[in-house]
Amino acid sequence: MKTKVIMIASSKGGVGKSTAALGISVQLALAGESVLLCDLDFGNACLDILAGVEDRVIYTVSDAANGRCTAKEAVITDSDTGIAGLSLMPCPAGGTVIISDKEDSDSVSAGNVADAVKKAAAEIGAGYVVIDTGAGVNPITDAASDIADTVIVVASHNPISLRAAEGTVARLSEKGHGDIRLVVNSFEAEATIKRKGPRKGLLDIIDMSKAPLAGVIPYDYSLMLYHEGVGKISATSERAFRNIAYRIMGNDVPLFEGINSIRKRRKKLYQ
Ligand SMILES: Nc1ncnc2c1ncn2[C@@H]1O[C@H](COP(=O)(O)OP(=O)(O)O)[C@@H](O)[C@H]1O
Ligand SMILES: [Mg+2]
Repeated sequence: MKTKVIMIASSKGGVGKSTAALGISVQLALAGESVLLCDLDFGNACLDILAGVEDRVIYTVSDAANGRCTAKEAVITDSDTGIAGLSLMPCPAGGTVIISDKEDSDSVSAGNVADAVKKAAAEIGAGYVVIDTGAGVNPITDAASDIADTVIVVASHNPISLRAAEGTVARLSEKGHGDIRLVVNSFEAEATIKRKGPRKGLLDIIDMSKAPLAGVIPYDYSLMLYHEGVGKISATSERAFRNIAYRIMGNDVPLFEGINSIRKRRKKLYQ
């Protein structure tokens, strides 16, 4: 079976790209898929920390791209992530490597990075590659979108993140990308129903971004704590990621399936 490459994107930072990349990857793996999660945020790499394997990083994607190790050697396997089927290709810590076409030890080319990701996926036999990207538009985000079958653009109610989503979708569409989907993160059903201030509703968000919806992740303070190593992921967040993962796998899953607190009020969200 062909490996499916999913890029998680938004030109804005702090919207939940890394959160979604990890959450969706975990659920794909729990569904029995072999998943290579790749951190391509050369500005603010974080997935090794979020996945709790920062002390397992020996080589990164940049070492593989520059030939200092094989692609496979830059992969942290599932025996270290602790989730069967989930491997991680980490990225060097924030800003230590510059993206350029000049090949030297402090820089790396976006083309070589994309090749290293593809090689690693082939070597470990990954069914899915999930690529987390950084903010902004740069050669790495372009190279990631070039190899992605599906791009998931993450946005929240926030007008700044919506503008970023709109711009990201427009740029990818101009490049001719055929499968761009939206994930609304940090969604607050109650506030949406009460429409506090200029807060956008779900339909407004979809309208603005011009991308079909791949899923909604509710705002969940415990998710933030979980990322800081406190507690467990909540059943609600887990379900939201699982719903998105199942849709990526081609299943028809109702929007708020299993998220009963929102599901029972869903008609009000669309008014
Ligand atoms: N649904 C959510 N509910 C609450 N906090 C969230 C949610 N999604 C992300 N966060 C928090 O928002 C912050 C930014 O998320 P992150 O995934 O790092 O964004 P990005 O990768 O786009 O920069 C993190 O502290 C994260 O824990
Ligand atoms: Mg991030």
